[in-house]
Amino acid sequence: MTKKISPDTGRAALRALLKDRSPLGPLKVMAEHVGRFFQIPLPGFRPYVVFGPESVRRVLVTERNKVLWRNTDPVTDLLHHGLLITDGEEHDHYRKLMEPPLHPSQLPGYTRMMIEQTDRVISRWKEGETVDMLIESRKIALLIIMQALFSRDVWDDLPRIWTPILKAIEYISPGAWIIWRGIPRPGFRKPLKQLDDYLFGIISERRKKQVMLLGNSNEGLPSHDEDTLPPGATQNDIPNDLLQHLIDAGLTDEIIRDQMLTMLIAGHDTSTALLAWIFVLLGQHPQTHVRLIEQIHHDGRSILLDQVIKESLRLYPPIHIGNRLIAEEMDFDGNKAPKGERLFYSIYLTQRDPAIWENPDDFCPERFAQGGNKTPPMSYIPFGGGPRACIGAVFGQYEARVVMTRLLQSFTFEPLNAGKIHAHMGATLEPRPGVMMKVKHRMPNIGN
Ligand code: HEM
Repeated sequence: MTKKISPDTGRAALRALLKDRSPLGPLKVMAEHVGRFFQIPLPGFRPYVVFGPESVRRVLVTERNKVLWRNTDPVTDLLHHGLLITDGEEHDHYRKLMEPPLHPSQLPGYTRMMIEQTDRVISRWKEGETVDMLIESRKIALLIIMQALFSRDVWDDLPRIWTPILKAIEYISPGAWIIWRGIPRPGFRKPLKQLDDYLFGIISERRKKQVMLLGNSNEGLPSHDEDTLPPGATQNDIPNDLLQHLIDAGLTDEIIRDQMLTMLIAGHDTSTALLAWIFVLLGQHPQTHVRLIEQIHHDGRSILLDQVIKESLRLYPPIHIGNRLIAEEMDFDGNKAPKGERLFYSIYLTQRDPAIWENPDDFCPERFAQGGNKTPPMSYIPFGGGPRACIGAVFGQYEARVVMTRLLQSFTFEPLNAGKIHAHMGATLEPRPGVMMKVKHRMPNIGN
């Protein structure tokens, strides 16, 4: 039985919505007033919400076979057969194909590229100008993900793919379609087609290159004999990246497009939010900011930076809920969640649960120091968990470390709107209206 929402709770939820300017406020009110299992009481939208380690473990591990990803919503409309939204054997097949380029052993190979792409973005900053770190982080994250996974340098393409990518993100962000699934959504067809054309273009170029160099686009590279290649060309001219893994597996262009778009969006929008939130938190906590800069300048590698990244992911998890469809009735400590309903496991509420976290709303990177108070398994889940945990978790954290170190080594950042930022629930949790920072050079040889 779901507890009835009292008028008091309803009023408190409304007040929280107005105060926080985000549904996160009402979610917290529901958690406080109703408990770790509740139903969102909106007309046409009544998902069950659970949080806390026990429930999260059920959804992600022990009873994961009772839930499905496949819903019909804008995410599935956009990503079709993308890894994020497929289930069962299809999912496991793609997952296996896509893991190797993101394996931790590959990460050091990306470091130089991550630094170079960061440098390109900051080379445009002028002394003393104001930049929005939400936008700048997106540029960096986009350049990095496209280069790492598809060996595509998108610097020159940014002007033409920027709007289509933002439109794709807007398309899958929560909106009125949640309540009225069939609501007309004009303005998306053209940019989404542009994005598709762009991705199909990259696939086709790679296939052509492979035919030119190796003669057959679908044969596995390792079986080729370098002696049969055209003069001068070697197998090394074909990048050993995620795109190539998908091509070599014999997938169709359509399925490859689905995986590319999935990785492009899941792999850059999250990193964008993470970098931007770190700047928000540093702007709001100048003492940590100063200590962090000292550590980075002194040692290069900073333990505090690792802790800041973790704490940012705890307070503002870019993916704040996991969305599932209940395929078989579930029981959460006597509360029934029926088959056919939508279920959210809340990362945000779990990571701010006062029963688990000391001063849960405070920014305290040191809570992640070695020897600090350990919280139970499944209480810190910024990357989900179980077999469907984020495939890019290690990559994303590595990227944040490399990019943050480079940025803090190169520029000073003076926060201009640190007190006026709220969490916006888009495709990811984003700091809005943006993260305005006045930047000044630290190193004379970067920028103009
Ligand atoms: C700070 C960075 C990131 C955060 C916070 C994050 C968070 C998450 C979370 C919470 C999930 C699980 C969602 C669920 O259970 O419903 C997930 C899944 C996923 N993430 Fe990430 N992610 C990040 C970076 C990345 C990167 C860099 C990539 C790609 C290179 C990526 C690709 C994916 C994919 C494809 C899935 C679905 C995996 C599957 O279902 O097997 N993410 N991510």
